[in-house]
Amino acid sequence: MPGQKPIKVALLGCGTVGTEVVRLLTDQAADLTARVGAPVELAGIAVRKPNKHREVPAELLTTDVDGLVESDVDVVVEVVGGIEPARTWLLKALHGGKSVVTANKALLAEHSGELFQAADSTGADLYFEAAVAGAIPLLRPLRESLAGDRITRVMGIVNGTTNFILSGMDSTGASYSETLEEATRLGYAEADPTADVDGFDAASKAAILASLAFHSRVTAADVHREGIASVSAADIAAAKGLGRTVKLLAICERVTSAGGESISVRVHPAMIPRTHPLAGVNGAFNAVFVEADAAGEMMFYGRGAGGAPTASAVLGDLVAVARNRVVSGRGPRESAYAALPVRPMGQAPTRYHISLDVADRPGVLSQVAAVFAEHDVSIAAVRQEGRVDDASLVIVTHAATDAALRSTVDKIGGLPVVREVVSVMRVEGEET
Ligand code: NDP
Ligand code: HSE
Repeated sequence: MPGQKPIKVALLGCGTVGTEVVRLLTDQAADLTARVGAPVELAGIAVRKPNKHREVPAELLTTDVDGLVESDVDVVVEVVGGIEPARTWLLKALHGGKSVVTANKALLAEHSGELFQAADSTGADLYFEAAVAGAIPLLRPLRESLAGDRITRVMGIVNGTTNFILSGMDSTGASYSETLEEATRLGYAEADPTADVDGFDAASKAAILASLAFHSRVTAADVHREGIASVSAADIAAAKGLGRTVKLLAICERVTSAGGESISVRVHPAMIPRTHPLAGVNGAFNAVFVEADAAGEMMFYGRGAGGAPTASAVLGDLVAVARNRVVSGRGPRESAYAALPVRPMGQAPTRYHISLDVADRPGVLSQVAAVFAEHDVSIAAVRQEGRVDDASLVIVTHAATDAALRSTVDKIGGLPVVREVVSVMRVEGEET
């Protein structure tokens, strides 16, 4: 491509991901030029503290982010994170006609509508493959490959930190706090693990997945969120006893009812059968299971975080937007035409596993069963084991609304014959 004008790139951020973006851009410069059809040139790198970045050419470093965004670059790659000032920078870039590649899930989960509108105003591209499940090609399949199908469900493990902790609890039988301590010591959990263990990170990703899968605008505030801090060693043992394992799942599903179509988007721990494809996803890995009418079931698996894996997804997006620039084309725009409403969690169809310690005498099972009937919740399976003077009762329900299941558990907990509600956990990944 002699004489082809280079595609100039501004990189905002040079931390865990940004450093690897610079490395890949440098090491693969010749291949990238051939793939794009023009040289891809790094025009500047914005950071907070230039002195600490000895690994990148000093002449590229700047603290003047606005100046870099407003310069004559074609593409802005944002790997800083957080809502502000990233939102302001990216709006400025898009309004200025620059295409944007970002890994910022928190920003997209709150402001994707505004960012897409800014992109539309100038015909720029907005790509964000790295924002969900790191290296795994997932958003492009949802946005493009499956655009002709009808997706019914997306269910995944999209947070490596919590998966590492739950996998550890499952293999050792240790408590949540012991396993979190170990994960922090080994560097798998951050010093402040709140965003991960309380499910905020997964909720942002769920909002992005639901928006793409169901052609509707879903924000993090629409996502029902529960973290893993309340998962006990007893929950894990109860799951094991039934051939199940516990995972923190991001679940986005299409619900069809008499009132029409809506979507349920939620993040919470759940038991899944050990035979389910997601059950074998251990440690810091991510995987997302997608169901669509025509395509059937698919699973996307790989590394959901880390500098190099995430940079791989960023570079894939960069090549795509650079190619679009070379041919004066454009990638997919926002598709939110369906505008499906999000159901409140109470109306989400779920199933429960309930483990109780009860008195072992005639009539106990019928008292417990009566509470289920009262709430119109159908029991799928019951297992009782007698002990010396009490019994362990394990009940798995059919699907019912989460509100009905929650009220059932509350009422059962108050029955005089129930000594303790040992474990309550939603069940996913099985026939209802
Ligand atoms: P880091 O904290 O490692 O790096 C952030 C970078 O942004 C640093 O270089 C920092 O500069 C720079 N920066 C922060 N604030 C400013 C500012 N006000 N002005 C200029 N530069 C600033 O973050 P990561 O690389 O881990 O993550 C980046 C993004 O990628 C986030 O959105 C994250 O959610 C996403 N992501 C990260 C993954 C991972 O595994 N790390 C996985 C998937 C997505 P300085 O170095 O000078 O302090
Ligand atoms: N903190 C995230 C995780 C990685 O633990 O998976 C970035 O999305």
